[in-house]
Amino acid sequence: MTHTLTLPGADPAGADAPGETLRDRLRADTREAHEALDARFSPMMAGDAGRYALFLLMNRDAHAAIEPLLSASPLAGEWRATGRLEAARQDCRILGLPAERAVPAPPELDAGTRAGALGLAYVLEGSRLGAKYLLRALARAPARNPFPTHYLEASSDAGPFTGLMRAMARESFSPAELSRSTEVARHTFRFFGRLADEHETAGPLGS
Ligand code: HEM
Repeated sequence: MTHTLTLPGADPAGADAPGETLRDRLRADTREAHEALDARFSPMMAGDAGRYALFLLMNRDAHAAIEPLLSASPLAGEWRATGRLEAARQDCRILGLPAERAVPAPPELDAGTRAGALGLAYVLEGSRLGAKYLLRALARAPARNPFPTHYLEASSDAGPFTGLMRAMARESFSPAELSRSTEVARHTFRFFGRLADEHETAGPLGS
């Protein structure tokens, strides 16, 4: 499945356009990275078990590395873990996938400032929107996709993302802080891709 995201107001040339929100900017600046992930994982919608396994491993390792950063960030208290990591672990166990290694987050995922933490949380929590979509799509063909879906189920409540977007809308960041936020978000997408690369290089994950 290759779909184009709906990106209202996401013209990168209009980064300073009046009315453009931080979310608009984050969405525009990470659009290419998101579409690359989307294309990479689209075969799982057609029942590709190896690709679904890779999706779970990538998400498990990403949550394991990123959640502690957010818990210790200026967003602590507003951002809370909601069981997505445990759910990813559960699906990985059911499928007998490789055990978790502690993959440290790269220093570029700097959640030390509120702007940086929001960029990081935008990616982790925004993936809920995709999860909701994927869960619905997999449920349409359960015979073709007999996959455990604890992670997608735990991820398909968009509420925490909406709350985060509300908090984001209350910020009035300087241009430097805006850039910081989008830079961290871009690095976060790259980190997801790198985790998938590493698991893919390690060997076949299913048929
Ligand atoms: C097969 C995998 C994926 C699919 C099919 C997918 C699909 C989608 C869809 C349909 C949306 C909603 C777009 C809209 O309402 O305008 C979305 C949003 C989003 N997804 Fe994904 N997604 C996938 C994987 C991921 C992953 C792994 C991440 C994180 C690394 C991610 C991050 C985001 C973010 C941040 C948004 C919010 C964009 C916004 O600001 O509206 N997605 N995704």
